[in-house]
Amino acid sequence: MDNRLFIFDTTLRDGEQVPGCQLNTVEKIQVAKALELLGVDVIEAGFPISSPGDFNSVIEISKAVTWPTICALTRAVQKDIDVAVDALRFAKHKRIHTGIGTSDSHIKYKFNSNREEIIERAVAAVKYARRFVDDVEFYAEDAGRTDNEYLARVVEAVIKAGATVVNIPDTTGYCLPSEYGAKIKYLIDHVDGVENAILSTHCHNDLGMATANTIAGVLNGARQVEVTINGIGERAGNTALEEIAMIIKSHHEIDIQTNINTQKIYPTSRMVSSLMNMPVQPNKAIVGRNAFAHSSGIHQDGVLKNVQTYEIIDPHDVGIDDNSIVLTARSGRAALKNRLTILGVELDQEKLDKVYEEFLKLADKKKDINDDDILVLAGADRSENHR
Ligand code: KIV
Ligand code: ZN
Repeated sequence: MDNRLFIFDTTLRDGEQVPGCQLNTVEKIQVAKALELLGVDVIEAGFPISSPGDFNSVIEISKAVTWPTICALTRAVQKDIDVAVDALRFAKHKRIHTGIGTSDSHIKYKFNSNREEIIERAVAAVKYARRFVDDVEFYAEDAGRTDNEYLARVVEAVIKAGATVVNIPDTTGYCLPSEYGAKIKYLIDHVDGVENAILSTHCHNDLGMATANTIAGVLNGARQVEVTINGIGERAGNTALEEIAMIIKSHHEIDIQTNINTQKIYPTSRMVSSLMNMPVQPNKAIVGRNAFAHSSGIHQDGVLKNVQTYEIIDPHDVGIDDNSIVLTARSGRAALKNRLTILGVELDQEKLDKVYEEFLKLADKKKDINDDDILVLAGADRSENHR
């Protein structure tokens, strides 16, 4: 099996659906350009029929971005596809992402339909989209809760109709990793012609399993992952791009490559967070403020001796170059001494012990101890001690 993993970013579609995260066209172009520099393969730029603003953004992103494929979402409806084709007219590489719900509850409550009719509608949408573009992705919405036998029939039918990528969304974030991985494997083993398309993951995080499910999908043969920056998206969000990129980079045994320039991860995360007004939780993996911050004395001592003791990722690899030692009331002498050395202050043991005592008193009162506090405690002046 091919070991190239395609990164499909849906920050500007699934991510932007989140209340309060809406961006104007200029801001979307800024994010799209950052995603291009980050190295994503596909940018889902919007759902053109949903609003004139979304339609216009897909047009402008298509003009602004060169390398990645620009993708537009549609329902399995001809009018949606017509509008998406129009919105994609300037894209150098274009993809239509069309689909329909396949779980029993979607078939019954959303479409008041039946399984056979859903397959017919899916096939018709893919064939229609293929009249305009060579690259058509089909999504089987709520595939996570669709029984595997029926799902395999849907996937087989849409590949035969010309789908180049088939997306298997865990729309409600319900699957267990073992279940989601087994679903991908079932499709690889049971769909005739599966080698003619790429299977894609699209996992939501309602139970906190989006990343684990996505990795389970990849380990079982999916070769595209649908992700967002900072994991933003409907409800509890989508799989976070930065987590997948760093799992793949750190676990060499997975033997899969992406095109992501991981050093662009942190700046892109900051940009998306600030433009979308969506703070990143401090303990968020990879991009949270505390993701590389060592605060307990035991950990700090270990890291100062050798970073491998408590760090599995070099912060520089994700574009962070801050000092990772945070001084708090839990910090030890080694961390204080290290910070003073960085600030250009060398103390003998006796003086260090005294300063450390004062430091602990201050740290008990004050949450964050900054460099100025330390310099005052050490009796040094910042102007004399440049970094
Ligand atoms: O979660 C989902 O099922 C989706 C589809 C529209 C791809 O976002
Ligand atoms: Zn989704």
